Amino acid sequence: MVAKSKLGLGELIATRRDALSFKPEAILEGTLQEILKLSALAPSELNLQPTRFILVRTPQGKAKLHECAFRHRSILQAPVTVIACGDSRVENPHYLDAVMALERTPLDNTSLHQAVSQLFSYKPSFGSLEVWVNRQVMLTVAHLLLAAQSVGVDSCLLQSFVQGHVQRAFGLPEEVFVCALIPLGYANPPLKQFGGHFDLNKVVYEEQFSAHLEGFLP
Ligand SMILES: Cc1cc2nc3c(=O)[nH]c(=O)nc-3n(C[C@H](O)[C@H](O)[C@H](O)COP(=O)(O)O)c2cc1C
Repeated sequence: MVAKSKLGLGELIATRRDALSFKPEAILEGTLQEILKLSALAPSELNLQPTRFILVRTPQGKAKLHECAFRHRSILQAPVTVIACGDSRVENPHYLDAVMALERTPLDNTSLHQAVSQLFSYKPSFGSLEVWVNRQVMLTVAHLLLAAQSVGVDSCLLQSFVQGHVQRAFGLPEEVFVCALIPLGYANPPLKQFGGHFDLNKVVYEEQFSAHLEGFLP
């Protein structure tokens, strides 16, 4: 039985904080699977779903990852760390067939192949596959943080790691990019102190980007 939070989504978003250190307490397998299942429901461009999660929970795996991530202590402490990575080989016809087999894409098979081919040859809004993959994966990561919190599991998010070291240590091909590491577990209090957020009038502009960078620069 997975313990559900009584908090609504707004409260979950407002109260989530990065965990600074973790207790050794394990996460029940059902709880972990629930977090992963919800995270994998995140949207992705053309429903291509490039996100892959590697679960690191053995002492050997944790020790390897710890070395790849500037020895961040959370990786040794947390019962599990998720390596969130993205596979850029989504243009592969076999892969597209698998997406089509989900039967939930609004495009027919030919249109999907064409749309993907155009997207990656024209790259209208991104410079590289690595950027495209990171956009998709980080959305699933955002889901993962909140999904974890919704079942009472704390998390922290790490992007301080050496990409090539993680790829080599965990058998990732060069087309698969590591986007984030997420230690999951039960935090030792205190959580990270609230760092504050800018008021909306500093981050939301009407109709066009604020030319005078109101509030930030003279
Ligand atoms: C994309 C991203 C990368 C981050 N990378 C690191 C990191 O490498 N090391 C670390 O200690 N914290 C990292 N953090 C955690 C942030 O420092 C933390 O989220 C921020 O201070 C706000 O705190 P909060 O999550 O408690 O609101 C990262 C957060 C994000 C969103």
